Amino acid sequence: MTARAGVPGETLTRGGSGERGDGPARVSVPGETRAGAISGEPTGPADEVPFPLSLWAEAVYSRRAIPAGLATGAPVPGRPDVDPAPRAPGPRHLLAAPPLHLEPLRRTPASLADPEVLAALLHYSYGLLQHDLTPGGWPHHRAVASARCRYPGELTLVTPTAAFRYDPMHHQLALLTPPMTDHQQLNPGDSRFVVITTNFAPTAQLYGDYAPRLCAQEAGMLLGAVHLVAAALGLRTRAGQDRETLLDLCAARPPTAEGEHAMGYLEILPSVERPAARSWPPPDLASVLRARHSGAALFDPVPAPAPRALLADLDVALADAPFSDFTCHLAVQRVIGSAPGHYLHDGIRLRRTSTGDPLPLLESIGQTEGRVSVNFRSTACTAYIAVRRGAAVAAHGADAFRRLHLVAGAVAHLLCVVAARHGLSARVHNGYDATSAERLLGPAADEETVLFQVAIGAARPTAAFRLPVLF
Ligand SMILES: Cc1cc2nc3c(=O)[nH]c(=O)nc-3n(C[C@H](O)[C@H](O)[C@H](O)COP(=O)(O)O)c2cc1C
Repeated sequence: MTARAGVPGETLTRGGSGERGDGPARVSVPGETRAGAISGEPTGPADEVPFPLSLWAEAVYSRRAIPAGLATGAPVPGRPDVDPAPRAPGPRHLLAAPPLHLEPLRRTPASLADPEVLAALLHYSYGLLQHDLTPGGWPHHRAVASARCRYPGELTLVTPTAAFRYDPMHHQLALLTPPMTDHQQLNPGDSRFVVITTNFAPTAQLYGDYAPRLCAQEAGMLLGAVHLVAAALGLRTRAGQDRETLLDLCAARPPTAEGEHAMGYLEILPSVERPAARSWPPPDLASVLRARHSGAALFDPVPAPAPRALLADLDVALADAPFSDFTCHLAVQRVIGSAPGHYLHDGIRLRRTSTGDPLPLLESIGQTEGRVSVNFRSTACTAYIAVRRGAAVAAHGADAFRRLHLVAGAVAHLLCVVAARHGLSARVHNGYDATSAERLLGPAADEETVLFQVAIGAARPTAAFRLPVLF
């Protein structure tokens, strides 16, 4: 791994060249406190602290943790060769075929005891939706975006007596806790919680020490996906970050992979009648999710204006996010009926804060080692999702990293889905400078951190050939 250039505003607090080989140079970011110094922070073996405080500087601010060989796709030397989609052991529970449309399933009361609802929730939250036959491409694409399609997240349904792991590749559930009773009697339809865990290994094989950042981002996106699909099915869920509850839910079953980390959960609540006429979730969410994509290898969309309804949809979708403590900055360039400028969603509503062409701002923030990361000259708009890091670190110590990525990740997935609804591609792209983003977008200095950059635009036709997957 190579040393990365220091980022303006960062201060070296321990001598060192910044080379990863001789131990990471310790840098401080605004509001950061040394690991171990904060009450409430997990202590114990390293494995219990998967997100040390140094990650803010190493992965978010400097991206120093990214290995030099990543551009070539070469595995990081010394990392074990892992199967990116290991088959969970345990008796299998066959799921119903996922329905092509979700709307007819909105029965009252909606329930996971309905096999079609159960199958739809799992498939459209994290299922295998597309098969890309392009030689040399990444063949498997699921309902949620994942950096280089490594899909480190795992979904587990937890009933009062058992836990079932979703296997998206086979559209099945694996029973994780074979109890003394006949497993035929155990029913995933009794699930009270959906638990999200992450397994660093497949992502770390390519991204090395940067993997925890991506895994935390993707856990949030997965949480947002379950929340959204559940709502479309008429199920009510309450997303949770609480560490104690999470660990209790995971304690009931053994981890299936070495170093699997608990990330978040959703509690399934009794369903309530929702108004039939609504704009969000989209009535045809299944088709929208099948069409969702991140664009070509280099994100270079057609410079076509996005439909007028894009911003109205973002307004309602983000107000329906599982957590509200975020700020989404939207740099709007070309959306029919909306002036170019800076818009802001505060978790409640979207409003314009200034007008003017945001291109110079985008090209300053959206850089990877001095090069502009995507073609912002043709994007329709770009979102930056910010969270209150200072307050969260003060309250939760190192665990703030996991919690805040859940909040921001859920919003990022909603942005991708809204884009897909309007025939656009949305690209989560980590090639941005968090310090510049804070300075130029104007969130409270030393307090907010930008955790996601999502560029949206009209996809250009590519050589890729993706087939829909039907089980
Ligand atoms: C957390 C996260 C970070 C990503 N970072 C980058 C990035 O830095 N550069 C890039 O070109 N693509 C990035 N991507 C895009 C993924 O590679 C893309 O989502 C993946 O190829 C899957 O494509 P699909 O969403 O069309 O199925 C990122 C995706 C995620 C979820």
